[in-house]
Amino acid sequence: MENRSGLAGPNLGFNVLKVYLRFSKRNAMTAFVIAIVSLMFILNLTRQIPTTTIQWKKLGIQSILTGLGVVTRSQTPNDATTTVAPSTTTTLSLELLAITPELKLDHLINASTGAKYPVTINGKYTFENPTLCSSVENLSVLIIVHTAPNNFESRLAIRRTWANDTYYRHLGVSRVLFLLGRVENADLQGKMVAEFKEYRDMLQGNFRDAYRNLTHKGVMGYRWITERCRNAKFILKTDDDIVVNMFKLFTRVLPNFQNKTKQILCNHIYADTMPIIREKESKWYVSENHFRGKNVYPEYCSGFMVLFTNDVIPAIYRAATMTPFFWVDDVYLYGLAPSHVPGIKYNDFRETDHMLDGQKALNCYRNVTENISNKCDYLVTGSRQLQESEDTWLEMKKQFTHDLGTFSSLTQNTSAISAYIDK
Ligand SMILES: *[C@@H]1O[C@H](CO)[C@@H](O)[C@H](O)[C@H]1NC(C)=O
Ligand SMILES: *[C@@H]1O[C@H](CO)[C@@H](O)[C@H](O)[C@H]1NC(C)=O
Ligand SMILES: *[C@@H]1O[C@H](CO)[C@@H](O)[C@H](O)[C@H]1NC(C)=O
Ligand SMILES: *[C@@H]1O[C@H](CO)[C@@H](O)[C@H](O)[C@H]1NC(C)=O
Ligand SMILES: *[C@@H]1O[C@H](CO)[C@@H](O)[C@H](O)[C@H]1NC(C)=O
Ligand SMILES: *[C@@H]1O[C@H](CO)[C@@H](O)[C@H](O)[C@H]1NC(C)=O
Ligand SMILES: *[C@@H]1O[C@H](CO)[C@@H](O)[C@H](O)[C@H]1NC(C)=O
Ligand SMILES: *[C@@H]1O[C@H](CO)[C@@H](O)[C@H](O)[C@H]1NC(C)=O
Repeated sequence: MENRSGLAGPNLGFNVLKVYLRFSKRNAMTAFVIAIVSLMFILNLTRQIPTTTIQWKKLGIQSILTGLGVVTRSQTPNDATTTVAPSTTTTLSLELLAITPELKLDHLINASTGAKYPVTINGKYTFENPTLCSSVENLSVLIIVHTAPNNFESRLAIRRTWANDTYYRHLGVSRVLFLLGRVENADLQGKMVAEFKEYRDMLQGNFRDAYRNLTHKGVMGYRWITERCRNAKFILKTDDDIVVNMFKLFTRVLPNFQNKTKQILCNHIYADTMPIIREKESKWYVSENHFRGKNVYPEYCSGFMVLFTNDVIPAIYRAATMTPFFWVDDVYLYGLAPSHVPGIKYNDFRETDHMLDGQKALNCYRNVTENISNKCDYLVTGSRQLQESEDTWLEMKKQFTHDLGTFSSLTQNTSAISAYIDK
């Protein structure tokens, strides 16, 4: 917001780069160096680089990549434990360079000039805990929750239940981060600040917290992870009315992604299957100026739960700095922006993985724990009431103890898990 001159950055820089590459195929190395320098310039505009790292003449490629934030750097003296393998770094940087704006999108998403790119929100955070991730060793999953300012109770329930890794520490380490926008009400803001001081697991950005600003919220998440959370292996995005079966996630989902990169797992909406709502009365009304002449969306994910391998987040964030703003957050965050990232792979939930009707999900789990020959193991369920989420979580935990035998082959130290379960 404060620095509008930065807006021209991504598009301008990359168009220059594209033209340059077209006319200099013979000199690939020069092109590569120019590309690095352009990217560094652009990233400086988006303020990811501490000014102290911009000392061109002295820097080698590796330190430039470090400056880009592609290699995790020390944010504070006490997070020196954070590292990323150099090989990952190089691959990622080349991928970042391969991301180019798609001019077609400018026409499809007829953004008003004031909010052309979501990077317009890159002002200061009102509050953040910069070492939430970097202070944690062996961080498997960072849980990102899109939450509304008033939902204090939902956040408490999430902290008490499925995002609380004391229940599954032997399977892996998780942390939770709640994403919030700005509010006008001083009382409400005061309460949120108090909550932040107590739990240190919230991030507030400088944009108005509103339904049609959820895209900003999501891009803020991508940005924060890119800057501050390179050490998490996976990123799990949910809403604040969701319960995730972390036992199933750790024992039967994450192992499938162990050595893979650029993966997304979600309720995948295939291209040309979801209608664009043109009725003015609808909450999801999209004007004819957006996706003009189209009546269905390109591919994306429903946002209630989306799992990413963390390697792909900086690339999606970069892509978001070139993707014109579109307020339908699921389409933007899990469709348009990732679609710029070469080689990104969508994996679909199975039909039996999700049950958003919380009462049905709870009944199903209860019946399973009453009669173990019943089958019910949702990976993700909805929950409208706090008691429902607490109960659902307890049932998931009970079932996990029942199922111990079936997944023991997948975990390294079964005696550790048994000892834990027996408590
Ligand atoms: C963009 O929207 C404006 C009105 O807001 C309209 O005049 C213009 O034709 C639109 N452009 C495209 C490419 O849809
Ligand atoms: C992190 O993982 C390493 C390697 O598996 C292990 O040696 C270390 O004890 C772990 N640290 C914690 C705090 O669990
Ligand atoms: C997480 O669970 C543990 C064990 O039940 C509990 O002591 C702790 O207070 C919980 N954390 C939060 C933030 O609720
Ligand atoms: C989104 O946030 C921006 C920046 O705070 C604000 O100008 C805009 O009005 C918000 N949009 C909505 C729909 O509230
Ligand atoms: C991951 O890679 C390691 C080392 O290459 C290998 O030992 C392990 O079996 C692989 N795991 C999976 C799930 O493929
Ligand atoms: C669970 O069991 C109850 C009572 O046996 C039954 O009424 C209900 O339909 C079952 N629910 C599910 C989801 O299977
Ligand atoms: C458990 O469920 C199975 C299959 O639904 C059924 O055949 C069996 O009778 C049930 N057992 C009890 C004790 O309810
Ligand atoms: C497995 O866990 C048990 C209980 O926590 C512990 O005593 C044992 O040393 C562990 N074994 C290995 C191989 O890590």
